[in-house]
Amino acid sequence: MSNRTFTMIKPDAMKNGHAGAILDRIIKEGYKIKALKMLKLSAEKAGEFYAVHKERPFYGELVDFMSSGPIIAAILEKENAVAAFRELIGATNPAQAAEGTIRKLFATSVGENAIHGSDSDENALIEGSFMFSGLEQC
Ligand code: RTP
Ligand code: MG
Repeated sequence: MSNRTFTMIKPDAMKNGHAGAILDRIIKEGYKIKALKMLKLSAEKAGEFYAVHKERPFYGELVDFMSSGPIIAAILEKENAVAAFRELIGATNPAQAAEGTIRKLFATSVGENAIHGSDSDENALIEGSFMFSGLEQC
C-alpha cells in the first residue's frame, strides 16, 4: 500500500468550470498536493498515457478527448491513496457512480468523465513520473 496517487482533471470538467470545486473537494478530503500543473496534452502524449487501452474501441475517442483542451494534473498524498481516491471519484460511468462522488457530481458521460485516478500503486508512480519531473514533486 502506497500513500500517493496521480490524478488529472479532464477537459470536460475544465471547460465546464468545475476545476476549482474539484480541487477544493480533494483538499477537503484530506489529500496533500505534492505536484500540480495545468497543461494541454498533444494527441501523441495522450495516446502514450492511455496506451494500455490501445486495442479498445473507445481509444481514438479517448485520445481526441484528452487532447481537446487543458487539463490539471496532480500527485496526491493520503493514507491508502489509490483505493481511497478511486472511491472518491466513483465509477467510470457517471450514471453508475455513487451519490456524492466527483464523477456523479461533475462528469458528463462515460467517455467525458471529469477526472482520472490511478488504478494501482505501480501505475500511480508511472503516471506521476510521466507528467512531472523530480524537481516538480514536493
Ligand atoms: P481513468 O483511467 O481515466 O481514471 O478511468 P477508469 O480507470 O475509471 O476507466 P478505464 O477503464 O481506465 O478507462 C479509461 C477512460 O477511457 C474512457 N472510456 N470511455 N466510451 C466508453 O465506453 C469508455 N470507456 C472508458 C473514460 O474516459 C475512462 O475514464
Ligand atoms: Mg483507468
